[in-house]
Amino acid sequence: MKVSVLDLKAEYAELRDEILPALDRVCRNASFVLGEEVEAFEREFADFCGTKHCVALSTGTAALHLGLLALGVQADDEVITTPNTFLATAEAITYCNATPVFVDIDPATGNLDPKLIERAITPRTRAILPVHLYGRPADMDAIREIAARRNLKVLEDAAQAHGARYRGRRAGSLGHAAIFSFYPTKNLAACGEGGALTTDDDQIAKFTRAARSHGQTARYEHEFVGYNYRMHGFQGAVLRIKLRHLYKWTARRQEIAREYRRLLAGARLEMPVDDPRDECVYHQFVIYVNNRNAVVSQLAAREIETVVHYPRPVHLQPAYSSLGLPPGTFPLVERACDRVLSLPLHPRLTAEQVAYVASSVREIVGEK
Ligand SMILES: Cc1ncc(COP(=O)(O)O)c(C=O)c1O
Repeated sequence: MKVSVLDLKAEYAELRDEILPALDRVCRNASFVLGEEVEAFEREFADFCGTKHCVALSTGTAALHLGLLALGVQADDEVITTPNTFLATAEAITYCNATPVFVDIDPATGNLDPKLIERAITPRTRAILPVHLYGRPADMDAIREIAARRNLKVLEDAAQAHGARYRGRRAGSLGHAAIFSFYPTKNLAACGEGGALTTDDDQIAKFTRAARSHGQTARYEHEFVGYNYRMHGFQGAVLRIKLRHLYKWTARRQEIAREYRRLLAGARLEMPVDDPRDECVYHQFVIYVNNRNAVVSQLAAREIETVVHYPRPVHLQPAYSSLGLPPGTFPLVERACDRVLSLPLHPRLTAEQVAYVASSVREIVGEK
């Protein structure tokens, strides 16, 4: 039985009859950049997140960049973040000519450990940038409490966490602002690139709207030097359709995750811990194993595809060698990256596929 980590072609086949007329509508209206579909998506996604504003952007990386600028991050500032993330989180800090300051993770969740934040704060610290890794909310109460006390801003990287809940509140509504990615592999995905910023703050929303379109506040009125970070009309139309399906897709992801947990209990591996007060949307289902390469190749021999998110923490990437942080600086994330493995998880996996993956993993890693 073949099991792949994603099945984007099957998703398109399911939605083709909805997507093609919507794309045709965009073409007939010639609303190729921003336009009415994007505006409607902004309203619908803000409602979904429980925020006052959503600003649709070209990518999640652009959203991170504008989010940091909107929070006042400037050259020579420092932004505290996690090294257990996709490079874009740190890159956006670098785009602002600021410095990413990493703190180690809580190995139970894979997310930034709030207990380590305080000692990383310096007079240059401007903001904290937690990531809800794999769709599992970071400990936002602890992060917000430190930020309030130390007068720092909080930008959530919710690129992997569409619909996740922390103490009942949706990701996207838990900091001064939040960002999302709609890259094709995400839980809510465009047919191409896409991103968004959500916030309750009128000034942040106003700045982001102008900054995404060359600093314009009205046509050819450029208040500042901005960017071309606008969402395409096609992507707004596609995202509106997929947002309506997201509830059932997320419920299916969570059901598969429960099944994996049940079937893998007692096997020689670890799984991240879910706080019962929160809701993880399982962008990835990860396990931690010894001898990962051997596990990957034995699963591949059974036609089970896996991916590693991520093989190297950001501080050990060549791109950030200038920070001078050698191996051993953040031992917990380094250990996690050596052992982590994402099992196939998407809404179209069948019960048979889930059982086949779990029994194969169990056979390969053995019992505790
Ligand atoms: C945690 C995280 N942050 C930021 C990004 C960047 O988003 P995008 O690829 O839409 O620029 C991604 C995804 O790629 C991500 O996983």
